[in-house]
Order: sequence, then structure tokens, then C-alpha cells
Amino acid sequence: MKIRLILLLLVCFSSISFAKITTRFPSSFDDNHLPSDLASKGKELLSYETHYYTQILDHFNYNPQSYQTFQQRYLLNDKYWSGSKKNAPIFVYTGNEGNIEWFTQNTGFMFEIAPHFNALLVFIEHRFYGKSIPYGGNKETAYSNKSTLGYLSSTQALADYATLIIDLKNNLTATDSPVVVFGGSYGGMLAAWFRLKYPHVTIGALASSAPILNFGNITSPYSFNNIITQDFKGESENCYKVIKGIWKQIEDTAKTTGGLEKLRKSFRICKNYISQGSLQNWLSTAFVYTAMTDYPTPSIFLNPLPAYPVKEMCKAIDDPKTGNDMFEKVYGAANIYYNYTGNATCFNLNDHSDPHGLGGWTWQACTEMVMPTDGNNNESIFPVSEWDYNERARFCQSNFGIKPRPDWVTTEFGGNNIERVLKKFGSNIIFFNGLKDPWSGGGVLKDISKSIVAIIAKEGAHHVDLRWSSKEDPEWLRQVRGREVNIISNWLSQYYQSLIDHIY
Ligand SMILES: *[C@@H]1O[C@H](CO)[C@@H](O)[C@H](O)[C@H]1NC(C)=O
Ligand SMILES: *[C@@H]1O[C@H](CO)[C@@H](O)[C@H](O)[C@H]1NC(C)=O
Ligand SMILES: *[C@@H]1O[C@H](CO)[C@@H](O)[C@H](O)[C@H]1NC(C)=O
Ligand SMILES: *[C@@H]1O[C@H](CO)[C@@H](O)[C@H](O)[C@H]1NC(C)=O
Ligand SMILES: *[C@@H]1O[C@H](CO)[C@@H](O)[C@H](O)[C@H]1NC(C)=O
Ligand SMILES: *[C@@H]1O[C@H](CO)[C@@H](O)[C@H](O)[C@H]1NC(C)=O
Repeated sequence: MKIRLILLLLVCFSSISFAKITTRFPSSFDDNHLPSDLASKGKELLSYETHYYTQILDHFNYNPQSYQTFQQRYLLNDKYWSGSKKNAPIFVYTGNEGNIEWFTQNTGFMFEIAPHFNALLVFIEHRFYGKSIPYGGNKETAYSNKSTLGYLSSTQALADYATLIIDLKNNLTATDSPVVVFGGSYGGMLAAWFRLKYPHVTIGALASSAPILNFGNITSPYSFNNIITQDFKGESENCYKVIKGIWKQIEDTAKTTGGLEKLRKSFRICKNYISQGSLQNWLSTAFVYTAMTDYPTPSIFLNPLPAYPVKEMCKAIDDPKTGNDMFEKVYGAANIYYNYTGNATCFNLNDHSDPHGLGGWTWQACTEMVMPTDGNNNESIFPVSEWDYNERARFCQSNFGIKPRPDWVTTEFGGNNIERVLKKFGSNIIFFNGLKDPWSGGGVLKDISKSIVAIIAKEGAHHVDLRWSSKEDPEWLRQVRGREVNIISNWLSQYYQSLIDHIY
């Protein structure tokens, strides 16, 4: 069985048996093209200055080489901040595994609530991503081998955030301004962990779609694909059955003489490259990411998509015009993910472009981010397969010459028996999850205490709450955001009260 990289916001590895290590971003995505919902209202709100901070390479030991530094990028918006004299709050986005500008553009929520809170906005880029590259900003050097990549880890990233926030507050003489951290996906995991590890630096965390329980044996390895399966099944049984059946049909066709040419024609694949595995990979990528970004309004997060894209895919599959031609039906579904703009002339299966610079996740997934997500049971919309740690370990050995440490995240941050552990320890964390998001299976879905709360949206997808609002937003989404704003207001009130109590 071969490994494949699904990329995510979190890249994960998938052993959907097909192809070799492939996919990054299967993308015809235009980085300069703002989402349509953003285009309408965000353009004037989305503004920031870019800053660089001289960050230390290794926070955790005192070897001479640890003292090397690099330039860490952060984005700042002080348009709404009412200043340090008023101890006005600071909202910090804990950057994830990609270019921080991309996450910033997709986190309209912070821009939209900043005026209400008179908050300073800070978006910090994660080390080794975007422009925050150690080794003099030289990405090739930084990514050369395990000796250089060894400094890419979540614990270093959290220490970077703490260092930078403390220094920034000093510079602004805002040491008493409360800091609230925000993050989605891996950034959400970082936000939650930051609150647990650095309670003296932040008063609370909004951790959106943060699968902090997708480690070790806490979450079933089938959960991720089961949720995708339910997303499609929920639209129509036929849609589910057609997709479930397509893998074998592709396999059977590929075996026949002229089979690959037939597949090329059916799926409008470019002349440069086709293989059975890469085609299956390309299709499953479309289903995985469409399920993740099944937003209620048109979006451009990974690719441009219509509102409720899973429904649109199933409409294409259920379309009676395509009769019994399963390839034509599934082509129609893929076309929604890969060609919503209508500009694609053919689909390039050999496209390994990575427009958002997410490649470092491969290293992270080979060291600490061992998240078992790619089991498929017999109900799965994908071919049956088992999550296989050894397969991951072999990949990491051959790719980087390293052995993953699958137990490190739960050792460092916890996760086992989280309800019991955090009931008495920790406070002020919101875990948001949309249940359509395959990552929600590894999320915190139940309140842990009065101040560590789970907000669940049955219809929600991957950190939908953090996106720009739109007039077309459904009521449930407005309510989710309203609740989040209320909870954050309470944290702030309590904090200001504690300042007063302390003085008198
Ligand atoms: C790793 O890469 C760095 C930077 O390119 C280089 O100086 C070093 O010799 C390499 N180490 C190994 C073990 O290849
Ligand atoms: C704080 O100010 C110092 C001195 O100007 C500067 O070097 C440093 O980068 C600033 N810190 C941040 C977080 O911008
Ligand atoms: C998960 O469970 C399997 C089988 O029960 C065991 O072999 C493995 O060591 C466990 N992994 C972790 C990270 O606890
Ligand atoms: C095709 O791309 C161009 C340029 O990127 C864009 O202006 C146009 O709207 C696109 N066409 C469609 C149908 O979206
Ligand atoms: C993309 O969509 C346009 C408009 O619907 C269509 O004409 C074109 O054939 C599609 N491209 C591919 C590769 O299917
Ligand atoms: C999956 O397996 C279960 C138990 O073995 C069986 O009851 C069920 O019918 C199977 N489902 C499919 C879709 O094959």
C-alpha cells in the first residue's frame, strides 16, 4: 500500500491505497483573488501593516547554535485599538502551517469584531512558513534536512508566540492589556494549547475546528472518512453509492487496453500525465476538501466554490441528464471543486504547486502531528483501508530519515481523559466544531466546565465561524458568532474586574 498526502489545512496522510506521495494543492487557485464574500465587505476592513520580529531559533536549550535568530513576520491592525492607557484588548491569531496572509484573509471574524472590542489585531506567522523562515530566510536551506527542520515544532511555535506577544506589549507599554488568542484548525490547536501552557500571556482562546483529540488512540481512525461519508450520504443515497462505486470502476477500466485513454477523456485530464492512482487521488482530494469547506455561502478558501458545495456535487451526480454514465456523473462532481470558475481547459494530475506554502506540514506530520485519520471501514465512501502507523513511519524514514513520535503531543499537551483533566485545570477556552467537518471527529464536542465550552454547529464546516460574515449567512452561524462574542466579552469583563480588585 502506498501513502498519499492529503493536504488540509492540516495535511494528513492517507493510505487510500492509490497513488504515491502526491498531492499538495491541486490548485488552480489565484492567490490574489479575494473571496467573493470578502470582496463585498472585507476589502475595506482587511488591512494590516507587516512587521518583523527577531526571533530566537531554539527556545529550549542553551547550546550556542540555539542563539541563532530569524525574522518572524506578524501583521498588525491598530485601527480599532483604543490604546494601552485604556488597557484595550489585543486579539492574536496563532498562525498555522502556511502563509499568514492567507489565514488572515480567511479570518474576517477578527476584523469584524475588533471595532466592538476596540481591539488591536495581531496575526503571527508560524516559523518555517510564509516569510518566517529560519536560516536567513532561505527556504531551501531551512528545509534541507532533519538538522535544519528539527526546529520546526509546535512547542517552538508556541514559545515564539509568547516571546513575541510579551515583547510587543512592552513596546506598546500595554502590559496590562488582555490578550485573547484565536486560531482555526492547526492554528486552533495552537490557540487552545497556548491558553493551557501560557495562561500568564493570554486570558482565553477561541479554538475553532481544532482536532486536539485526533492523536494516539483517542479518536477512531475511521472517524474522519466516516464524516465525509455522512456528508455525501446526507445529500442523497445515490450520490454516496455512485462515489463509493467509482473507485473499482476506475480500477477495472484502467486495466483494459485503452482504459487510461478512456479515463482521460471521461475526466478531461490533460495529456501530460495520467495513472489510475493519480486519478483516484485527484478525485478523493476533491471530496475530502469539499466536505471540509462545505460552507453556506460561496467561498474561496482552497478553491473557489459555490455555497453548499457538497449539495452541488450531489446534484451533478444525481442529474438525470447523465443517465447511467458514472464517469460523467463523477466528472460533474469533480468539476465543481476544480473548475467552478469555468476556466479550466483540462485537469493536470501532475500539478504539485503549493500556493499557500504548506509543505512544512509533511515534516510536522512525520514528527509530532501523527493524526490517524485515514481508516476506511466498509461503509466509507472511499475504498476500505486501515490506518497503518508503520506505513507512516516508513515514509518518514525514507523521506527525512526520522522516526515519528506519535505519543509526544498527548504527553506535552494532554488529550487523554480531557474532560476529567481540564475540569479542574484550565479555563476560558471555546472549542467550536462544525459537524460536517471531517476534523470535528477529533474535536472537543462537549462542555468540559463552565469556562471550557464546546460550541457545535450541526451544519458547520471547517472553522466556518472565523470566516467573514455575509448577508446570506444562516441563522445558526450568526448565533454561533454571537455566542463567541458574548463569551469573549465575559472573559474581558472578568479580567478588568480582576485588575480593579487587585488595585483596591
Ligand atoms: C543539512 O543542511 C544544512 C544546510 O543546508 C547543511 O549545512 C548540513 O550539512 C546538512 N546536514 C546534513 C546531515 O546533511
Ligand atoms: C520592540 O521594539 C524593538 C526596538 O525597537 C524592536 O527591535 C522589536 O522588534 C519590537 N518588538 C516587536 C514584537 O515588534
Ligand atoms: C493504540 O492502540 C494500539 C492497539 O491497541 C497500540 O498498539 C498502540 O500502541 C496504541 N497507540 C498509542 C499511541 O497509544
Ligand atoms: C476566468 O479567469 C478570469 C481571470 O482570472 C476571470 O476574470 C474570469 O471571471 C474567469 N471566468 C470565469 C467564468 O469565472
Ligand atoms: C470548465 O467549465 C467550463 C464551463 O462550464 C467548461 O466549458 C469546461 O469544459 C470545463 N473544463 C473542464 C476541464 O472540464
Ligand atoms: C459492513 O459490515 C457490517 C458488519 O460486518 C455489515 O452489517 C454491513 O452490511 C456492511 N456494509 C456494507 C455497506 O457493506
